[in-house]
Amino acid sequence: MTYRIALLPGDGVGSDVLEAAKGVLDAIGFDGEYEYGDIGWEFWRTEGNPLPDRTIDLLKRTDCCLFGAITSKPKDEAAAELAPELRGEELVYSSPIVGLRQRFGLHTNLRPCKAYRGNPLNLRDDIDLVVFRENTEGLYCGVEWHPVPENVRAAFDTHAKMKRFESVADDDLAISTRIFTREGCRAILRDAFEYAKKHGYPTVTVVEKPNVIRETSGLMVREARAMGKEYPGIELWETNIDAMCMWLVKNPQDYGVLVSSNMFGDILSDLAAQIVGGLGFACAGNLGDDYAVFEPTHGSAPKYVGQNKVNPIATIRSAKMMLDYLGETEMAGKIETAVANTIREGRLRTYDMGGTTTTTEMAEAIANAAEEA
Ligand code: IPM
Ligand code: MG
Repeated sequence: MTYRIALLPGDGVGSDVLEAAKGVLDAIGFDGEYEYGDIGWEFWRTEGNPLPDRTIDLLKRTDCCLFGAITSKPKDEAAAELAPELRGEELVYSSPIVGLRQRFGLHTNLRPCKAYRGNPLNLRDDIDLVVFRENTEGLYCGVEWHPVPENVRAAFDTHAKMKRFESVADDDLAISTRIFTREGCRAILRDAFEYAKKHGYPTVTVVEKPNVIRETSGLMVREARAMGKEYPGIELWETNIDAMCMWLVKNPQDYGVLVSSNMFGDILSDLAAQIVGGLGFACAGNLGDDYAVFEPTHGSAPKYVGQNKVNPIATIRSAKMMLDYLGETEMAGKIETAVANTIREGRLRTYDMGGTTTTTEMAEAIANAAEEA
């Protein structure tokens, strides 16, 4: 079967890692009809939009997308880099990957963090965690103000706890909202429980902070308890985000599936990645009901551009997740075996692993191993 795959290299090392993954897909005979699309910094600077409409159209006509990496900068820095003719148009930069997730309803960010045998960077060798990060709501929903408009201010002032900020000028106040919906909470929780059930994880840990953030974290935890009743074989653990960071360093082997909201999940997944080797190994799937985007968790690493240096394993594993999504489990298994064997043999090590293996050398070795697997 031929699949239509959108390839979005994005910024920085994105295209290096994407080509590396494509090489592995080619080696195992994956029949992909690839179409490259525009996304990222260059399009922000020259068009004032890092996620052009033509890219949205491209995604709509493909089965799924493999994504490289993106450079995200704060508002003012972004505005300063706009082409001169676009300045003064009040364009505001927002992350195109966050935009894609929202636009395509990719509500679930699945981030497996497993220790591969022989990886010298593992904190321990028995770690096998999967982070489920809510991907379209929460603190990254983009509903925020600075300065705060009068009508918004008035609405906020109806809350007793705003009294403390009474004398703060609108211009001296910035508000970012953390919006949760019951539907959003249930979608991420459902995926987490179903994954635990399917893959035999004994626990699902909901990671929030309901003792302080009563309404949003509270909603997530209450929904988790309710849903947990539908999964009698799986224990629901509730851990606060701060404590979870401590436990993940102290006893990571005790945990299985972790589920959290957008920002906490973002933080948690970098931490979980680091204890099994770092972002060079961390793959991700942004999953919606009818589309999916697969990407390494790492950023665009501008300092390594053009050096053929970064570890391509995160993106190769993302391509493996893509095959799982497409139902090509046999091919997915080949990539998994090739990655595991290459790491275990220990002959090749990219710079993050303390070696000098290049991106292409690592990718070719995995491609050859996958071909033979
Ligand atoms: C990630 C990244 C992105 C995010 C950035 C690049 C916007 O950190 O995928 O984890 O925060 O979601
Ligand atoms: Mg992140």
